[in-house]
Amino acid sequence: MVKKINACIFISGRGTNLKSIIMSSRDYNFPIIVKLIISDNDNAKGLKYAKKFNIPYKFFNYKNKMQFERKCLLEIKRRKIEFLCLAGFMKILSKKFIMGFNNKIINIHPSLLPKFKGLNTHKRVLQNKEKFTGCTVHYVNAKLDSGKIILQKKIKINLNESEDSLRKRVLKEENNLYPEAIRLALK
Ligand code: GRF
Repeated sequence: MVKKINACIFISGRGTNLKSIIMSSRDYNFPIIVKLIISDNDNAKGLKYAKKFNIPYKFFNYKNKMQFERKCLLEIKRRKIEFLCLAGFMKILSKKFIMGFNNKIINIHPSLLPKFKGLNTHKRVLQNKEKFTGCTVHYVNAKLDSGKIILQKKIKINLNESEDSLRKRVLKEENNLYPEAIRLALK
């Protein structure tokens, strides 16, 4: 049995990646235990998984970023959390915050990084007539979507693929990739 590291998952919305991480973490050989879920959105659908699986969760308003981060840090320290996963967390953390967790924050992005950093990924992928796309789990550093890559999954774009179908296909891959990347990062 592995000694599980306490982790916190940050979300802003739907939470399918959060759900997938929680499900994986129920395996006694998975390297993390989800001790806390933080959302910057009190309406985030993903919070239902916190309730369903009885995991403590906090909503912190992001309007004041410094206060948001201070509150996060207090909870993280209080719960002896050592690993942070951003899973559809749509805000940018400060350099100072990130530096405090060297190689201990990871993120998932719906493209084959370093291509298509930032928002509206699938739209830009299609506009650019790419043949392949995918998703990436990477360490978080001070630059957006630029940290060292942990794992990627590549898929072929179908003829007449719509933004919506691509989003759905990539999301399915993300949900499989994220737990796999956590295992790899903490091996
Ligand atoms: C995912 O596509 C993720 O890559 C992006 O936001 C989406 C979040 O989905 N950053 P979910 O909330 O995990 O369902």
